[in-house]
Amino acid sequence: MRRVLLWMARNRMLRDLVPRLWFAKRAVGRFMPGESMDEALDAAERYRHDGIGAIFTHLGENLADLSEADAVATHYHELLDRIVARGIDGEISVKLTQLGLDLDREACARHLGALAARAREIGAGTVWIDMEGSAYTETTVALYEQLKPEHPNLGICLQAYLKRTAADITRLGPLRPSIRMVKGAYDEPARIAYRSRSEVDASFVSQSVVILRDGAERLGLGTHDVRLIEQIATSADVAGISRDAYEVQMLYGIRTDQLRRLSKAGYRARVLIAYGEFWYPWYVRRLAERPANVLFVLRQLLPW
Ligand code: FDA
Repeated sequence: MRRVLLWMARNRMLRDLVPRLWFAKRAVGRFMPGESMDEALDAAERYRHDGIGAIFTHLGENLADLSEADAVATHYHELLDRIVARGIDGEISVKLTQLGLDLDREACARHLGALAARAREIGAGTVWIDMEGSAYTETTVALYEQLKPEHPNLGICLQAYLKRTAADITRLGPLRPSIRMVKGAYDEPARIAYRSRSEVDASFVSQSVVILRDGAERLGLGTHDVRLIEQIATSADVAGISRDAYEVQMLYGIRTDQLRRLSKAGYRARVLIAYGEFWYPWYVRRLAERPANVLFVLRQLLPW
Protein backbone atom coordinates (compact mmCIF):
# COMPACT_ATOMS: atom_id res chain seq x y z
CA MET A 1 0.00 0.00 0.00
CA ARG A 2 2.80 2.43 0.96
CA ARG A 3 4.62 1.86 -2.35
CA VAL A 4 1.43 2.27 -4.40
CA LEU A 5 0.64 5.52 -2.61
CA LEU A 6 4.18 6.83 -3.11
CA TRP A 7 3.89 5.98 -6.81
CA MET A 8 0.57 7.87 -6.89
CA ALA A 9 2.30 10.87 -5.27
CA ARG A 10 4.71 11.03 -8.25
CA ASN A 11 2.13 10.37 -10.99
CA ARG A 12 1.52 13.47 -13.12
CA MET A 13 -1.94 12.51 -14.38
CA LEU A 14 -3.25 11.91 -10.87
CA ARG A 15 -1.56 15.12 -9.73
CA ASP A 16 -3.77 17.04 -12.18
CA LEU A 17 -6.94 15.05 -11.63
CA VAL A 18 -7.26 14.40 -7.89
CA PRO A 19 -7.21 18.00 -6.60
CA ARG A 20 -10.40 18.59 -8.65
CA LEU A 21 -12.34 15.83 -6.89
CA TRP A 22 -14.65 17.22 -4.23
CA PHE A 23 -14.14 14.41 -1.74
CA ALA A 24 -10.34 14.77 -1.94
CA LYS A 25 -10.65 18.48 -1.20
CA ARG A 26 -12.79 17.65 1.83
CA ALA A 27 -10.39 14.97 3.09
CA VAL A 28 -7.28 17.13 2.79
CA GLY A 29 -8.75 19.48 5.41
CA ARG A 30 -7.58 17.02 8.02
CA PHE A 31 -3.91 17.84 7.33
CA MET A 32 -4.07 21.48 6.33
CA PRO A 33 -6.14 24.41 7.59
CA GLY A 34 -6.79 25.76 4.06
CA GLU A 35 -5.12 26.85 0.86
CA SER A 36 -4.49 30.51 1.78
CA MET A 37 -1.76 32.24 3.81
CA ASP A 38 -4.42 33.79 6.07
CA GLU A 39 -5.88 30.40 6.94
CA ALA A 40 -2.38 29.12 7.82
CA LEU A 41 -1.62 32.16 10.00
CA ASP A 42 -5.02 31.89 11.74
CA ALA A 43 -4.30 28.22 12.49
CA ALA A 44 -0.96 29.15 14.10
CA GLU A 45 -2.77 31.57 16.43
CA ARG A 46 -4.79 28.66 17.78
CA TYR A 47 -1.60 27.02 19.11
CA ARG A 48 -0.19 30.17 20.63
CA HIS A 49 -1.83 29.92 24.07
CA ASP A 50 -0.41 26.41 24.48
CA GLY A 51 3.09 27.83 23.95
CA ILE A 52 3.44 26.02 20.61
CA GLY A 53 5.24 27.85 17.81
CA ALA A 54 4.68 27.30 14.09
CA ILE A 55 6.60 26.47 10.95
CA PHE A 56 4.90 27.33 7.65
CA THR A 57 5.30 25.58 4.32
CA HIS A 58 3.71 26.80 1.12
CA LEU A 59 3.08 23.61 -0.80
CA GLY A 60 4.62 23.04 -4.21
CA GLU A 61 7.54 21.04 -5.65
CA ASN A 62 9.39 20.82 -8.97
CA LEU A 63 8.82 23.80 -11.28
CA ALA A 64 8.72 24.17 -15.08
CA ASP A 65 9.91 27.78 -15.27
CA LEU A 66 12.26 29.94 -13.21
CA SER A 67 9.69 32.74 -12.98
CA GLU A 68 7.64 30.35 -10.80
CA ALA A 69 10.56 30.22 -8.34
CA ASP A 70 10.59 34.03 -8.22
CA ALA A 71 6.88 33.96 -7.37
CA VAL A 72 7.44 31.36 -4.62
CA ALA A 73 10.24 33.46 -3.11
CA THR A 74 8.05 36.58 -3.22
CA HIS A 75 5.30 34.65 -1.48
CA TYR A 76 7.68 33.56 1.32
CA HIS A 77 8.99 37.13 1.76
CA GLU A 78 5.41 38.31 2.23
CA LEU A 79 4.79 35.44 4.64
CA LEU A 80 7.83 36.39 6.76
CA ASP A 81 6.55 39.96 7.02
CA ARG A 82 3.04 38.77 7.95
CA ILE A 83 4.38 36.37 10.62
CA VAL A 84 6.22 39.24 12.30
CA ALA A 85 3.37 41.74 11.85
CA ARG A 86 0.98 39.36 13.61
CA GLY A 87 3.45 38.63 16.41
CA ILE A 88 3.41 34.89 15.70
CA ASP A 89 6.32 32.72 16.86
CA GLY A 90 6.69 31.37 13.33
CA GLU A 91 9.39 30.18 10.96
CA ILE A 92 9.34 28.88 7.40
CA SER A 93 10.36 25.63 5.76
CA VAL A 94 11.08 25.54 2.03
CA LYS A 95 11.67 22.94 -0.66
CA LEU A 96 14.67 23.72 -2.85
CA THR A 97 12.95 22.38 -5.98
CA GLN A 98 10.25 24.97 -5.35
CA LEU A 99 12.96 27.65 -5.41
CA GLY A 100 14.16 26.44 -8.81
CA LEU A 101 16.88 23.89 -7.90
CA ASP A 102 16.24 21.78 -11.02
CA LEU A 103 16.47 24.78 -13.32
CA ASP A 104 19.23 26.98 -11.92
CA ARG A 105 21.17 26.03 -8.79
CA GLU A 106 22.62 29.51 -8.32
CA ALA A 107 19.23 31.22 -8.61
CA CYS A 108 17.92 28.77 -6.03
CA ALA A 109 20.86 29.58 -3.71
CA ARG A 110 20.21 33.31 -4.16
CA HIS A 111 16.54 32.92 -3.23
CA LEU A 112 17.39 30.82 -0.19
CA GLY A 113 20.06 33.25 0.99
CA ALA A 114 17.74 36.24 0.54
CA LEU A 115 14.99 34.53 2.56
CA ALA A 116 17.41 33.68 5.37
CA ALA A 117 18.77 37.25 5.38
CA ARG A 118 15.27 38.71 5.54
CA ALA A 119 14.16 36.33 8.31
CA ARG A 120 17.22 37.24 10.35
CA GLU A 121 16.77 40.97 9.78
CA ILE A 122 13.17 40.99 11.02
CA GLY A 123 13.58 38.36 13.74
CA ALA A 124 11.62 35.56 12.05
CA GLY A 125 13.94 32.78 13.26
CA THR A 126 15.23 29.85 11.27
CA VAL A 127 14.60 29.17 7.60
CA TRP A 128 14.37 25.39 7.36
CA ILE A 129 15.23 23.44 4.21
CA ASP A 130 13.01 20.41 3.64
CA MET A 131 14.75 17.25 2.45
CA GLU A 132 13.28 15.78 -0.76
CA GLY A 133 13.94 12.46 -2.54
CA SER A 134 17.49 11.04 -2.59
CA ALA A 135 18.24 12.54 -6.03
CA TYR A 136 18.48 15.87 -4.18
CA THR A 137 20.28 14.88 -0.96
CA GLU A 138 23.85 15.67 -2.01
CA THR A 139 22.93 19.03 -3.62
CA THR A 140 20.86 20.02 -0.59
CA VAL A 141 23.63 19.19 1.88
CA ALA A 142 26.20 20.97 -0.33
CA LEU A 143 24.01 24.10 -0.62
CA TYR A 144 23.59 24.11 3.14
CA GLU A 145 27.38 23.93 3.57
CA GLN A 146 27.77 26.78 1.11
CA LEU A 147 25.21 29.12 2.69
CA LYS A 148 25.29 28.36 6.43
CA PRO A 149 28.48 30.35 7.22
CA GLU A 150 26.86 33.53 5.85
CA HIS A 151 23.36 32.70 7.09
CA PRO A 152 23.55 31.21 10.59
CA ASN A 153 19.75 30.98 10.80
CA LEU A 154 19.51 28.27 8.12
CA GLY A 155 18.36 24.80 9.18
CA ILE A 156 18.34 21.54 7.23
CA CYS A 157 16.20 18.42 7.41
CA LEU A 158 18.01 15.05 7.47
CA GLN A 159 16.32 11.67 7.00
CA ALA A 160 17.05 8.83 9.44
CA TYR A 161 16.23 6.17 6.79
CA LEU A 162 19.18 7.18 4.59
CA LYS A 163 22.38 5.26 5.30
CA ARG A 164 24.44 8.35 4.46
CA THR A 165 22.89 10.50 7.21
CA ALA A 166 25.46 9.61 9.91
CA ALA A 167 28.21 10.83 7.56
CA ASP A 168 26.22 13.99 6.72
CA ILE A 169 25.94 14.80 10.43
CA THR A 170 29.73 14.46 10.83
CA ARG A 171 30.27 16.52 7.68
CA LEU A 172 28.01 19.37 8.88
CA GLY A 173 29.25 19.28 12.49
CA PRO A 174 31.85 22.08 12.15
CA LEU A 175 29.12 24.44 10.89
CA ARG A 176 27.14 24.12 14.15
CA PRO A 177 24.07 23.16 12.13
CA SER A 178 20.39 23.42 12.93
CA ILE A 179 19.00 20.00 12.04
CA ARG A 180 15.46 18.69 11.83
CA MET A 181 15.64 14.91 12.08
CA VAL A 182 12.80 12.99 10.37
CA LYS A 183 12.32 9.33 9.49
CA GLY A 184 11.95 10.07 5.74
CA ALA A 185 8.86 10.18 3.52
CA TYR A 186 9.98 8.91 0.10
CA ASP A 187 10.34 5.48 -1.49
CA GLU A 188 14.08 4.81 -1.42
CA PRO A 189 15.87 1.57 -2.44
CA ALA A 190 17.49 -0.77 0.12
CA ARG A 191 20.90 0.03 -1.42
CA ILE A 192 20.82 3.50 0.16
CA ALA A 193 18.08 3.35 2.79
CA TYR A 194 17.04 1.29 5.81
CA ARG A 195 13.68 -0.27 4.99
CA SER A 196 12.59 -1.89 8.24
CA ARG A 197 10.83 0.09 10.90
CA SER A 198 13.22 -1.06 13.64
CA GLU A 199 16.29 0.06 11.67
CA VAL A 200 14.78 3.46 10.84
CA ASP A 201 13.73 4.01 14.46
CA ALA A 202 17.16 2.99 15.77
CA SER A 203 18.84 5.34 13.31
CA PHE A 204 16.48 8.19 14.31
CA VAL A 205 17.36 7.79 18.00
CA SER A 206 21.09 7.28 17.58
CA GLN A 207 21.55 10.15 15.09
CA SER A 208 19.52 12.52 17.29
CA VAL A 209 21.60 11.63 20.34
CA VAL A 210 24.83 12.21 18.35
CA ILE A 211 23.57 15.64 17.26
CA LEU A 212 22.70 16.54 20.86
CA ARG A 213 26.03 15.30 22.17
CA ASP A 214 27.98 17.24 19.53
CA GLY A 215 26.14 20.46 20.30
CA ALA A 216 24.20 21.57 17.23
CA GLU A 217 22.66 25.03 17.11
CA ARG A 218 19.20 23.47 17.16
CA LEU A 219 17.72 19.99 16.92
CA GLY A 220 14.13 19.53 15.81
CA LEU A 221 12.65 16.07 16.36
CA GLY A 222 10.27 15.97 13.38
CA THR A 223 8.19 12.98 14.35
CA HIS A 224 4.85 11.92 15.82
CA ASP A 225 6.50 8.89 17.37
CA VAL A 226 6.27 9.85 21.03
CA ARG A 227 8.06 6.67 22.07
CA LEU A 228 11.18 7.79 20.21
CA ILE A 229 10.92 11.34 21.54
CA GLU A 230 10.84 9.96 25.08
CA GLN A 231 13.83 7.69 24.43
CA ILE A 232 15.86 10.64 23.16
CA ALA A 233 14.73 12.79 26.11
CA THR A 234 15.89 10.08 28.53
CA SER A 235 19.31 9.91 26.85
CA ALA A 236 19.54 13.71 26.99
CA ASP A 237 18.62 13.73 30.72
CA VAL A 238 21.24 11.11 31.48
CA ALA A 239 23.87 13.16 29.61
CA GLY A 240 22.82 16.30 31.51
CA ILE A 241 21.52 18.01 28.34
CA SER A 242 18.66 20.41 29.01
CA ARG A 243 15.26 20.24 27.29
CA ASP A 244 15.99 23.60 25.66
CA ALA A 245 18.57 21.89 23.44
CA TYR A 246 15.91 20.28 21.26
CA GLU A 247 12.29 20.65 20.27
CA VAL A 248 9.42 18.51 19.08
CA GLN A 249 7.98 19.30 15.65
CA MET A 250 4.78 17.68 14.41
CA LEU A 251 2.56 18.16 11.36
CA TYR A 252 -0.73 20.02 11.63
CA GLY A 253 -3.61 17.61 12.22
CA ILE A 254 -1.49 14.66 13.40
CA ARG A 255 -1.27 13.76 17.10
CA THR A 256 -2.00 17.33 18.17
CA ASP A 257 -3.07 16.06 21.60
CA GLN A 258 0.44 14.66 22.10
CA LEU A 259 2.10 17.87 20.91
CA ARG A 260 0.02 19.85 23.43
CA ARG A 261 0.81 17.36 26.17
CA LEU A 262 4.56 17.54 25.50
CA SER A 263 4.46 21.33 25.40
CA LYS A 264 2.71 21.39 28.79
CA ALA A 265 5.33 18.97 30.13
CA GLY A 266 8.06 21.52 29.34
CA TYR A 267 9.25 20.47 25.89
CA ARG A 268 9.71 23.12 23.22
CA ALA A 269 7.14 22.42 20.52
CA ARG A 270 6.25 23.56 17.01
CA VAL A 271 3.52 22.61 14.58
CA LEU A 272 4.33 22.52 10.88
CA ILE A 273 1.44 24.06 8.98
CA ALA A 274 1.34 23.34 5.26
CA TYR A 275 -1.00 25.24 2.98
CA GLY A 276 -1.48 26.09 -0.70
CA GLU A 277 -3.17 24.84 -3.82
CA PHE A 278 -0.50 22.29 -4.81
CA TRP A 279 -1.19 19.85 -2.01
CA TYR A 280 -1.59 16.61 -3.97
CA PRO A 281 1.89 14.92 -3.72
CA TRP A 282 2.41 16.15 -0.16
CA TYR A 283 -1.01 14.88 0.88
CA VAL A 284 -0.55 11.45 -0.71
CA ARG A 285 2.78 11.06 1.14
CA ARG A 286 0.82 11.67 4.39
CA LEU A 287 -1.57 8.87 3.37
CA ALA A 288 1.39 6.58 2.69
CA GLU A 289 2.69 7.15 6.22
CA ARG A 290 -0.45 5.61 7.63
CA PRO A 291 -2.55 3.59 5.18
CA ALA A 292 -5.47 3.74 7.66
CA ASN A 293 -5.78 7.34 6.45
CA VAL A 294 -7.04 5.99 3.12
CA LEU A 295 -10.16 4.79 4.94
CA PHE A 296 -10.60 8.33 6.18
CA VAL A 297 -10.54 9.60 2.56
CA LEU A 298 -13.02 6.95 1.44
CA ARG A 299 -15.31 7.87 4.32
CA GLN A 300 -15.61 11.36 2.79
CA LEU A 301 -17.55 9.70 -0.05
CA LEU A 302 -20.33 8.81 2.36
CA PRO A 303 -23.13 11.33 2.81
CA TRP A 304 -23.01 11.28 6.65
P1 FDA B 1 5.58 6.91 12.26
O1 FDA B 1 5.20 6.90 10.82
O2 FDA B 1 6.12 5.69 12.87
O3 FDA B 1 4.32 7.41 13.09
C1 FDA B 1 4.23 7.39 14.49
C2 FDA B 1 2.77 7.54 14.85
O4 FDA B 1 2.32 8.86 14.48
C3 FDA B 1 1.85 6.58 14.06
O5 FDA B 1 1.71 5.37 14.74
C4 FDA B 1 0.57 7.37 13.96
O6 FDA B 1 -0.16 7.24 15.17
C5 FDA B 1 1.05 8.80 13.85
N1 FDA B 1 1.17 9.23 12.44
C6 FDA B 1 2.30 9.39 11.74
N2 FDA B 1 2.05 9.82 10.48
C7 FDA B 1 0.71 9.93 10.40
C8 FDA B 1 -0.17 10.33 9.37
N3 FDA B 1 0.28 10.72 8.17
N4 FDA B 1 -1.50 10.32 9.63
C9 FDA B 1 -1.97 9.97 10.85
N5 FDA B 1 -1.17 9.57 11.87
C10 FDA B 1 0.14 9.55 11.66
N6 FDA B 1 10.01 13.91 5.50
C11 FDA B 1 10.94 14.12 4.54
O7 FDA B 1 11.32 13.18 3.84
N7 FDA B 1 11.43 15.39 4.34
C12 FDA B 1 11.08 16.45 5.12
O8 FDA B 1 11.55 17.58 4.91
C13 FDA B 1 10.13 16.21 6.17
N8 FDA B 1 9.74 17.23 6.99
C14 FDA B 1 8.95 16.93 8.10
C15 FDA B 1 8.71 17.92 9.05
C16 FDA B 1 7.98 17.60 10.21
C17 FDA B 1 7.76 18.66 11.25
C18 FDA B 1 7.48 16.27 10.39
C19 FDA B 1 6.71 15.90 11.62
C20 FDA B 1 7.70 15.32 9.42
C21 FDA B 1 8.43 15.63 8.28
N9 FDA B 1 8.67 14.66 7.30
C22 FDA B 1 9.60 14.92 6.31
C23 FDA B 1 7.91 13.38 7.29
C24 FDA B 1 8.66 12.26 7.99
O9 FDA B 1 9.75 11.83 7.23
C25 FDA B 1 7.74 11.03 8.23
O10 FDA B 1 7.33 10.54 6.98
C26 FDA B 1 6.50 11.35 9.05
O11 FDA B 1 6.80 12.20 10.11
C27 FDA B 1 5.89 10.04 9.62
O12 FDA B 1 6.78 9.40 10.44
P2 FDA B 1 6.77 9.52 12.05
O13 FDA B 1 8.13 9.94 12.46
O14 FDA B 1 5.70 10.39 12.52
O15 FDA B 1 6.66 8.04 12.56
